[in-house]
Amino acid sequence: MLQLKNVSFSYNKGQTDEIQALSNINLSIKEDEFISIIGENGSGKSTLANLLNGLLKPTEGEVLIGALSTKDDKNLLKIRQKVGLLFQNPDNQIIATLVDEDVAFGPENLGVERSEIIKRVETSLASVGMQGYKKYEPHNLSAGQRQKVAIASVLAMQPDYLVLDEPTSYLDPASRQDILKLLKRINKERQISIINITHYLNQVFVSERIISMKKGEIIFDGSVEDYFSDDKALKASGIERPLWLEIKQKYATKVSEIKKVNSAESLGEILCLLS
Ligand SMILES: Nc1ncnc2c1ncn2[C@@H]1O[C@H](COP(=O)(O)OP(=O)(O)O)[C@@H](O)[C@H]1O
Ligand SMILES: [Mg+2]
Repeated sequence: MLQLKNVSFSYNKGQTDEIQALSNINLSIKEDEFISIIGENGSGKSTLANLLNGLLKPTEGEVLIGALSTKDDKNLLKIRQKVGLLFQNPDNQIIATLVDEDVAFGPENLGVERSEIIKRVETSLASVGMQGYKKYEPHNLSAGQRQKVAIASVLAMQPDYLVLDEPTSYLDPASRQDILKLLKRINKERQISIINITHYLNQVFVSERIISMKKGEIIFDGSVEDYFSDDKALKASGIERPLWLEIKQKYATKVSEIKKVNSAESLGEILCLLS
């Protein structure tokens, strides 16, 4: 379990330019969830992500990974192994000159044995469908492929939680979908919790739980289904229910095929089949 207990965070604490980025956050995340975090710019999403693996420490309250608090510096190496963090731009994350070296880098730093590292490089690259690219130089890959390598490098640490801060912002729509599918698969097959920060509303429907943030606070935390049936919650976060979902909610009881709809594309497909 990953827990935030009464967590607040301010940048430049105690100075004239102090900014309170998070206020009194309480959160529990289990080890096999798929969570989307949404909220307008400046609502505190990235700050929250950085608190989850101890890159930032709470000004008040506590962040616990199992029994390990991020407050205690001697826990940080273990915590960073357990909670992998991935950023928008893969180029800030990839350090080695060859794909396989980059994936090996994390476990090498953890002091993992050579034979085990080789295994991890294989399985992590296979998990993201990049096993054929071991000897490629990252700069010769597409942005989507580089983001997959960055994900593999985090997976090689064998984390329990994978936190992604707008991981598809630099990608084209097709790669975006690709990465999302990949995250769903990793969540299912590896039983790793995925915490995906996104500003693409269509991405939240692969997750089970949604956390909506506003001005440093959590204003909704619950199932995706409940969120999109809750007019107040939607209004508070300035979100409009997508048209395909309106149609689903209206017609699912009348046309059973429509129950399966989970995106605009799938509504289109089902309507074609029905007509
Ligand atoms: N390094 C920083 N120094 C000072 N203020 C920051 C810093 N990073 C973010 N902030 C401020 O903290 C608040 C939350 O920002 P952030 O966590 O980046 O939000 P989001 O990721 O939702 O856009 C904003 O008011 C932002 O301006
Ligand atoms: Mg951000």
